[in-house]
Amino acid sequence: MASVAPSCINIKKPKLFWTVGPALFGNIGCFLSNPICTVANAVFVRTAVGSLRPVLTTSCTGVASFVPSVPQASSRSRTSTVTVTVSATATVTATRKLNPIKMSAKSSNDIDGKAIAAQIRAELKVRVATLPSPPGLAVILVGSRRDSQTYVRMKKRACEEVGVASFGFDYPDTATEQEILDKVHELNQDDKVHGILVQLPLPAHIDESNVIQAVVPHKDVDGLHPLNTASLCSTGTHVGVQKLNWKDMASVPFHIPCTPQGCIELLDRTGVDLKGKNAAVIGRSNLVGLPVAMLLMHRDATVTIVHSKTVNAAQIVKNADVIIAAVGRAQMVKKDWIKQGAVVVDVGINSIDDPSSKKGYKLVGDVDYANVKQVAGQITPVPGGVGPMTIAMLLRNTVNSCVRHTASKSEKK
Ligand code: GUN
Repeated sequence: MASVAPSCINIKKPKLFWTVGPALFGNIGCFLSNPICTVANAVFVRTAVGSLRPVLTTSCTGVASFVPSVPQASSRSRTSTVTVTVSATATVTATRKLNPIKMSAKSSNDIDGKAIAAQIRAELKVRVATLPSPPGLAVILVGSRRDSQTYVRMKKRACEEVGVASFGFDYPDTATEQEILDKVHELNQDDKVHGILVQLPLPAHIDESNVIQAVVPHKDVDGLHPLNTASLCSTGTHVGVQKLNWKDMASVPFHIPCTPQGCIELLDRTGVDLKGKNAAVIGRSNLVGLPVAMLLMHRDATVTIVHSKTVNAAQIVKNADVIIAAVGRAQMVKKDWIKQGAVVVDVGINSIDDPSSKKGYKLVGDVDYANVKQVAGQITPVPGGVGPMTIAMLLRNTVNSCVRHTASKSEKK
């Protein structure tokens, strides 16, 4: 795969707050929304994974709707900042009829992650309104990375929308590992907190795996704790006494990482049947590549993971009916890698030079979108594809955690 490095792509060094690099952490989980979308249409497509069928389609133009303009000086203070937010609007009744997904159209084969994520948030809001007390998500942010600050802000905003209480703990770059571990231990014991998220990456002097492992698995809504990974990687049909139903990821009794879960949920809600299909996952990170490969396999796909040492990567991808690109390299996946009609899910968020834009750069995925969409059956745009789904799945994990906690409390009574 090393031989396919894009020669024409000029990847920007961090500009304003944005970090681009081969490390997937900096590139994934970006929850941008598209500012402009047009009206819905139904068109018929024939895909490699399904027969001729109608799809609702979308066109979204424009890039990130937010760009903080003034870099913040990092604080030297040792104390953390705490914010608590609970939505004042979580009063809808559980029987309220949901709005249909508002899809928009122009690019006939786009998968509209923004609309599907909005639908999921609306469903969660209804569910949250039935709970005796609000689910709580604690978000720990260490340092002054602008991209991480933006992601955390978007996560908290989404919490507010669905009625999840968010508890923010912001630490300076100089915070020690012990300070973060102490906070995690405290949150593990806090009954108002059902999910704990430590925004990654952490400053280099903090060992990420120590922090991830400190979170109790049932509050690890990121799904990164080794016990949650082990459950995901088990081909058994049970965890404990509960029979697993991989068709309904929200029902499994442990936390599945949010971006991989979001990719599969997008495919589910677009009607893509994975059974018996060839799937290629490009990238082998703990956060996306590995877990999404497991989820695809649990759905009876035949999965190949393509990585930096893979020989003939393009050929392997060309054989795939479904492609998940999660490698963190701008526009690396080209049109001639893609089988006609294949479904392409692009997890990457990368910034490249764009002299025609006011900001001088634009956000693109790992897929050469404009060209690949000419052959793909369906494709996720960047932004507006996987990004919003990651947040929706974080909320779902948190709500599920609260529901399980409430059920176990009433069983004990
Ligand atoms: N940084 C980028 N993506 C993620 C994510 O999904 N979870 C966490 N905790 N940090 C991230």
